[in-house]
Amino acid sequence: MAERFTKSAARNIFYGGSAFFFVTFVALTIHSHYYMRTVSTDESTLTEGVVRGKHVWEKNSCINCHSILGEGAYFAPELGNVWVRYGGREDPEGARAALVAWMQSQPSGIQGRRQMPQFNLTDQELNDLSDFLEWTSRIKTQGWPPNDAG
Ligand code: HEC
Repeated sequence: MAERFTKSAARNIFYGGSAFFFVTFVALTIHSHYYMRTVSTDESTLTEGVVRGKHVWEKNSCINCHSILGEGAYFAPELGNVWVRYGGREDPEGARAALVAWMQSQPSGIQGRRQMPQFNLTDQELNDLSDFLEWTSRIKTQGWPPNDAG
């Protein structure tokens, strides 16, 4: 065994360590990718309606006021959980109707309440948006955001 810490020992530790952590990094990346596709996002129910609903969400910049799964603006309520808060787990049709009614009845005009604009979405767009919010509510976020308000 070497008496002291030689140059070649240092080099071996450097290369060995780099290789070890590089392989670990690649393995964790593959695992994250696999986990996202098979566990956290419900890929099998990602329908055309969900995809179109996401476009409605983006085209109308809902995120300029709302957060979704904690990301976005904090002017208006978190919407990643709105489907669940509207009772969508127990009564999907009821939640869909409530969401559509909400979208159609804005702005509320109630004094002292923050106002949401009227987007004049078509029935198809409202339905797609509901698909998107329903699907989003099923993403496993490991408890994020930590409270209902995002
Ligand atoms: C200009 C800001 C603004 C934009 C843009 C906006 N909203 Fe809102 N939204 C609000 C506000 C403010 C409220 C809360 C109003 C209230 O409580 O009376 C709200 C509430 C909601 C609610 C009810 C939430 C709950 O917890 O009851 C839903 C659903 C919703 N918005 C969906 C959307 C969607 C979908 C879009 C994009 C098409 C959108 N909003 C864009 C401001 C906005």
